[in-house]
Amino acid sequence: MKTTILLAGILLYTNVALAEESGKQLFNTLCLRCHTTNPGKGITKVAPPIFAVVKHVRSAYPQREDFVQQIVDWVEHPDKDVSLMQGAIKKFGLMPKLPYKPEEVKKVAEFLYDEKATPPTWYKKHYEEKHGKNKLQ
Ligand code: HEC
Repeated sequence: MKTTILLAGILLYTNVALAEESGKQLFNTLCLRCHTTNPGKGITKVAPPIFAVVKHVRSAYPQREDFVQQIVDWVEHPDKDVSLMQGAIKKFGLMPKLPYKPEEVKKVAEFLYDEKATPPTWYKKHYEEKHGKNKLQ
């Protein structure tokens, strides 16, 4: 009996702990190993830095809801034909399909939308060279 109560307690605790995992923590666990937040000069070899991804998705989907949906759909099914970052695919290859839970990716996407990361100066330069001036605020 005691064991059952103890087990139920542990299960409840674990569920609460999981439910409370924030978008930021989920990002760190699920995406950070490929999408760096703090690149040095130049772009990492594995994938574009996350602010570059956010910038591209945000300019195509300025509304929070659309932005979140686009990221959730993308992670579920990366597809060259709907990609907003054709240059990144050429450079790094298509993002692999990852077995993540859509509700977790949704939290990550909301975090990415709300977090207003400022890109480093070298990236602004790189972006303007590629996409023209006045596009990156
Ligand atoms: C195994 C490495 C890897 C992981 C982990 C990863 N990505 Fe990516 N991602 C990539 C690569 C490589 C690209 C660039 C090529 C491309 O766009 O497919 C990319 C591109 C993207 C893009 C741009 C899509 C476009 O329009 O081309 C989005 C959005 C994105 N990732 C979101 C995420 C999110 C959110 C996570 C975590 C839930 C994540 N990625 C985890 C490798 C990864």
